[in-house]
Amino acid sequence: MAFTIAIDGPAAAGKGTVGRRLAAHFGFAHLDTGLLYRATGRRTLDGTDAVEAARSLQPHDLEARDLRTPEVGQAASRVAAIPEVREALIDFQRAFAARSGGAVLDGRDIGTVICPDADVKLYVTATDDVRAARRLTELVSTGHDITYGEVLDDLRQRDARDSARSAAPLIPANDAVLLDTSTLTIEQAVAAAIAEVMRVQQA
Ligand code: C5P
Repeated sequence: MAFTIAIDGPAAAGKGTVGRRLAAHFGFAHLDTGLLYRATGRRTLDGTDAVEAARSLQPHDLEARDLRTPEVGQAASRVAAIPEVREALIDFQRAFAARSGGAVLDGRDIGTVICPDADVKLYVTATDDVRAARRLTELVSTGHDITYGEVLDDLRQRDARDSARSAAPLIPANDAVLLDTSTLTIEQAVAAAIAEVMRVQQA
């Protein structure tokens, strides 16, 4: 049976961690949809046209090792504003969401555009400072040479672009449950998300 959990929110709010942990807890599949835009954006850095890159995306493109860099994140957020790019990625995401056995998708427009009928919708957020500090730790631990200020600028620029675009802007769905992880540990954030899914399953 299909059961879809949609998780949206700004950059580095904890969507990925909550999504992965929810999927593991319930035995669902997980899709980090940001990777689709990162892989598309990365190909434009080699000179490929954005729409062409999105239309010809292959599974191995999602496994490239440098997808997490701020440079690729910026390219992702630029291509993500192009309606034809978003259009090219819809079918894959909807098919993933509809698979039997349950699916968790995290991104920016999952609860609003990709899966408006999702069983559970979470909007995960945290303050700019908390998000930047978390992302800095992640980047430094994977060998990137970057400062707190650079990370903060990157997140703020992407959030502004993602929120201001006319195609599927970053915005909470009307029926999304807000999960502010600013003062929560990972365990607490995951526990709150699990509780919400169980509340819906038992309703
Ligand atoms: O989630 P992540 O930070 O990896 O996403 C990279 C960029 O991809 C975002 O800044 C956003 O512009 C875009 N994105 C999107 N819609 C999604 C997922 C990501 O526009 N569902």
